[in-house]
Amino acid sequence: MTQQSNQQQSNEQQSNEQQQYEQLLKIAVEAARLAVDLIYTERPTAFWIEQKSSATDHVTEMDLASEQLIRKIISDHRPGDRIIGEEGQLSPGTLNTESPEVVWFVDPIDGTTNYVYDLPGYAVSIAAQIDGQTVAGLVADPTHDRVYSATLGGGAFCNSALIHLRPSRSDSHQELLATALVATGFSYSAERRARQGKVIAELLPQIRDIRRMGSAALDLCSVASGRVDGYFELGLSPWDWLAGGLIATEAGAELGPLDPTADDSAGLLAAGPELFSPLRELLCSLGADKV
Ligand code: IPD
Repeated sequence: MTQQSNQQQSNEQQSNEQQQYEQLLKIAVEAARLAVDLIYTERPTAFWIEQKSSATDHVTEMDLASEQLIRKIISDHRPGDRIIGEEGQLSPGTLNTESPEVVWFVDPIDGTTNYVYDLPGYAVSIAAQIDGQTVAGLVADPTHDRVYSATLGGGAFCNSALIHLRPSRSDSHQELLATALVATGFSYSAERRARQGKVIAELLPQIRDIRRMGSAALDLCSVASGRVDGYFELGLSPWDWLAGGLIATEAGAELGPLDPTADDSAGLLAAGPELFSPLRELLCSLGADKV
């Protein structure tokens, strides 16, 4: 086969893959739009129904209703796919050896505390993976009327506008850190919060400031849109960050574990390529990866 036809074949394969990712994203958009309409309209009457991991970690009836709706839309379009949701059982899917395995990760309301207190900053988050790689991600933020989306290799968007990180303005690590606006989140466990508080007390004098906005998915979209310079958090679940993570990396961010020897669930960091390493070093020197 000639070099030219090899190139042609690889271009075709890439465009087929891109089409497949776009199709998955379209399903996520349809499901998220319906879920967002539901949770936004019903918010005034939504109430906590069940305690989860701690006295401050609850689920509302709308988390459950939103997840049920999203599962239905995905299953209507793609009956065999596995769906892993924050509030539900695993939908096992059916094994199809002919085509690659698609797995969906759904957070029906990320930022449930904001949702119940009527604070802006909650979202519906949906990610699709093929063979373990995130290929489509969607985060819908009803209070700001923003839908963030990305496909692997296809760029990141807010509504229909391409988004990108805040450009880096210095080569000096010290200056990058001193001017960094960093988002983070805290655990639902009181003991872990106490340790996280100590890390933040030491971090604060060394950066521009901290933001705790209450939705991991939206924090990652804020990195993607240049509204913060970086974001880190420990103990996240895949539905919290997979969609926002793809959006952030497609917008130019580096994303990885706080501790390079551990997996992402142990602690996740997202930041521009220049800030990522100095921020990771600083956070690890303060023990942020061990809290
Ligand atoms: C939480 C939010 C919060 C983060 C927690 C998450 P939930 O998700 O993303 O910002 O700090 O780690 O669990 O519980 O509101 O879906």
